[in-house]
Amino acid sequence: MAQRWTPDSWRSKPAKQMPDYPDPARLAEVEAQLASYPPLVFAGEARSLKARLAKVAAGEAFLLQGGDCAEAFSDFEADKIRDTFRVLLQMAVVLMFGSAVPVVKVGRMAGQFAKPRSADTETIDGKELPSYRGDIINGYEFDAAARTPDPDRMLRAYNQSAATLNLLRAFAQGGYADLHKVHQWTLGFVGRSPEGQRYEAFANRIDEAVQFMAACGVTAESTPSIRETEFYTSHEALLLPYEQALTRIDSTSGDWYDVSAHMLWIGDRTRQPDGAHVEFLRGVKNPLGLKCGPTSDPDDLIRLLDTLNPDNEPGRMTLIVRMGADKVERHLPPLIRRVQAEGRTVVWSCDPMHGNTVKSTTGYKTRRFDAILQEVGAFFAIHHAEGTYPGGVHFELTGQDVTECTGGAQAITDNVLSLRYHTACDPRLNAHQALELAFLTAEKLKEARADRDRARRIAAAE
Ligand code: PEP
Ligand code: CO
Repeated sequence: MAQRWTPDSWRSKPAKQMPDYPDPARLAEVEAQLASYPPLVFAGEARSLKARLAKVAAGEAFLLQGGDCAEAFSDFEADKIRDTFRVLLQMAVVLMFGSAVPVVKVGRMAGQFAKPRSADTETIDGKELPSYRGDIINGYEFDAAARTPDPDRMLRAYNQSAATLNLLRAFAQGGYADLHKVHQWTLGFVGRSPEGQRYEAFANRIDEAVQFMAACGVTAESTPSIRETEFYTSHEALLLPYEQALTRIDSTSGDWYDVSAHMLWIGDRTRQPDGAHVEFLRGVKNPLGLKCGPTSDPDDLIRLLDTLNPDNEPGRMTLIVRMGADKVERHLPPLIRRVQAEGRTVVWSCDPMHGNTVKSTTGYKTRRFDAILQEVGAFFAIHHAEGTYPGGVHFELTGQDVTECTGGAQAITDNVLSLRYHTACDPRLNAHQALELAFLTAEKLKEARADRDRARRIAAAE
């Protein structure tokens, strides 16, 4: 029998990756303040997302999740939010039009501030300081004051999340996402590139389809989904004092929801079955992500699913697989087979970023486009072989023209990484690379859908 859950029951469990706040009194004040603030999202929206993800789990939709590795206080501008939203919208259109499945759009946005680190401290020129853990915890600059965890940063992160979400809601519902504007979403610097031209050709075909539908009487007036889109937010639920303060009882259902985002995920470093992060998330009803890395063990995974989704509710769990291009063939099939054998309903999503981080010859943390693509390809091929559905992708990307990942049609090399290397944490795909990946993923998704339809026809005929 499971122990009783409360929003603070995680406090009696071992918690990894948590900062040491030198001023606990101030921390308590900030937590109390946050607990009195309005929710950022509504429980009903989290339930809608769960219903959409249940469709993904059933093979009837596809999940696109993406955004910054870490949002930053210094990067808080309307244009940057719009550009990330726009590239996700473009990718969704490419995936949707290419494969004819609805795409569920989830941003790593409006709250993705806390970062797990592999080392607690960083040493530069003999000086040792706490590692940077994301703007919600401490500052990036390498000095003792900046690196000291400061609870007031949570208030700033909350406010930035609220303003970001406000803008995202306006973009999603205020007419910006109107399919009639599919041409206008083209990002200036992508327009003339090969993937920009390919997108333009897609946009022309979508225009024709929209006109055809209008002639049939399907217009933005009769069908609001032509004019607006659903867009959801997500982040890693790492900083538990913040997440707890934003956890509320939903008056409609009487259930607890973490109202800091629609979807929360557990990182690869904090997925201990008896740890604080699992304890916290088991009690909230939001849809959850769980990162699965090369050290994920099938028995542990089933234990985690028992704890996090005891009723096997469809749409509750998304397994975000981040093995690395060279490891996915070895480590993913045993997880899939075990989940299938135990009859668990999950969304399988591919994060081809976190297992493919390398150091460039010029000293930058980078990711090779080829390795990213290879992991996506292997993910689809493995699901094909296992007879399961590759339900989604999870990317670190930005709408900006950065040079952080190498390769792609622009052929970014190690030598040019320094030109526009702006990330606060991990290297992100730029808008060209993100769009290119969307086209390549759409082709694989189309094949996967065709396989599935064929298998269903054969099964029906038997
Ligand atoms: C991340 O998604 O930024 C992250 C840290 O991932 P992981 O937990 O998979 O390493
Ligand atoms: Co990252």
